[in-house]
Amino acid sequence: MSILISNREVANNVYLLTVEGNYQGAIGQFYMLRAWGNYPVLSRPISIFNREEGKIQFLYKVFGEGTGFISRLKPGDEIGLEGPFGNGFPHIERKVAMIGGGIGIAPFYYAAKQMPWADVYLGFGQEPYLVDEYKEVAANVVVNVGGRVLDELDVDVYDAIFVCGPHGMMHATYEKAKFSKADVYVSLEKRMACGVGACLVCSVICQNGNKRACADGPVFLATEVNFDAENGL
Ligand code: FES
Repeated sequence: MSILISNREVANNVYLLTVEGNYQGAIGQFYMLRAWGNYPVLSRPISIFNREEGKIQFLYKVFGEGTGFISRLKPGDEIGLEGPFGNGFPHIERKVAMIGGGIGIAPFYYAAKQMPWADVYLGFGQEPYLVDEYKEVAANVVVNVGGRVLDELDVDVYDAIFVCGPHGMMHATYEKAKFSKADVYVSLEKRMACGVGACLVCSVICQNGNKRACADGPVFLATEVNFDAENGL
């Protein structure tokens, strides 16, 4: 078990959790978090927001019982972290756009630290959060509140586009960029149970059959994903 340093509400129902310890993890990878006994049964997969000497951070939104439980933890409380899991985003030393929608902004803080030449696009439905923090680590930050952050994106400028957010936003990014030179990478959020590829709860319908978001992803080239079949789920 690890010890909480802080658990700060940065917007309505959105929390930045800081946990003590030296943890591994690449951009776009996630940990399974657990702070309870037998119920709720499943640990919660949450992507890495930031990690540095002596601490790791997770940005999460309260969706149900597990995240609700985590949101009530206080500094000094214990939490279980298993991971890192998943493949993560590639490191690309060319022109990169990172597009986050809502809580989907989470992986792009650490990503911008690793690739500070990237342009970061943050889309919020209502209340923006942590924008100043992103501006400290990214060369260029574009913020959209209440509209479509994708409308701000000129796809022809980029060699790679990373997207994390609502399924419709990832599909729309793929459609917008599919005739450009940019490779589009999407991070798919799926319900997870084991987190290590054993239970198949997190299946993603791909062009060549099903894959597992936890073990084969959560990051996929958008060309791999069968969005039409996924949209029907
Ligand atoms: Fe079990 Fe992905 S969560 S296979």
